[in-house]
Amino acid sequence: MTHSRTTRRFLKTSSLLIAGLVLAACGKQEAPAPAAPAASTAAAPPPAAKVYVVGTDAAYAPFESQNEKGEIVGFDIDVVSAVAKKAGIEVKFVNTPWEGIFNNLTQGDRDLLVSAITITDERKQTMDFSAPYFDAQQLIAVKATSKITRFDDLKKLKVGVQTGTTGDEVVSKLLGKTSTSIKRFESTPLALKELEASGVDAVVADNGVVIHYVTNNAGATFKTVSDTAFTPEQYGLAVNKGNVELLEKVNKGLADIKADGTYAKIYAQYFGAAPAAAVVK
Ligand code: ARG
Repeated sequence: MTHSRTTRRFLKTSSLLIAGLVLAACGKQEAPAPAAPAASTAAAPPPAAKVYVVGTDAAYAPFESQNEKGEIVGFDIDVVSAVAKKAGIEVKFVNTPWEGIFNNLTQGDRDLLVSAITITDERKQTMDFSAPYFDAQQLIAVKATSKITRFDDLKKLKVGVQTGTTGDEVVSKLLGKTSTSIKRFESTPLALKELEASGVDAVVADNGVVIHYVTNNAGATFKTVSDTAFTPEQYGLAVNKGNVELLEKVNKGLADIKADGTYAKIYAQYFGAAPAAAVVK
């Protein structure tokens, strides 16, 4: 009896003691908390950095295309990667068909677009552009045997363009938007392939892409025809209207790579010559 009471008291006392110790321990853990943040912050993983999704229609060499491994490569890719590095942001390129590319931006599926996009007043109404990063112009591709010498000569011919591009715009103006002589393709290489197959008599597209195709497809035996009727164009990176935060980062990065020679280096790598002063500034 006595023994058992003693035991019980002992047990009671010990459990109180244990409870006390536990409480004390808890208290102790809480007490030094104010000093702890430094250590616990260092141990915690940093908050995941935002990865900006960059849309690009990767069928537009040398600006953007897919290599044998399926990787998206090109001048635009190198420019945006260098811009991102300077701006301290992370980017991820996603192949995005040209026809839906602007909708992908406005719907928020893409944060940024790089796709040899010409800055136009019309596009400026629905998206914001960075400072220009490349000078371009329309150029006509025809078979080497063709007699055409100027843009106006295309009036009676079948002309291939990539749907919704500035090439489409100029040809639509010349032939009439609904003209059945305009053959619209989902990519510029497809339009050029059709020229090769004589399905169209000419293709009008950005000079950089036409020259690249003609140089790399000797079998196609094309020639190019330029015309002063084409107004100068400039490429810009596009963000959603009002995305000032990203636009400022991009413009800052662009200014930095132009200033420190990175831009000129990338340009020379793809086009062999020094970039036009107007764009480097
Ligand atoms: N510069 C032209 C435009 O803005 C053509 C761009 C097409 N780009 C492309 N990656 N498919 O309309």
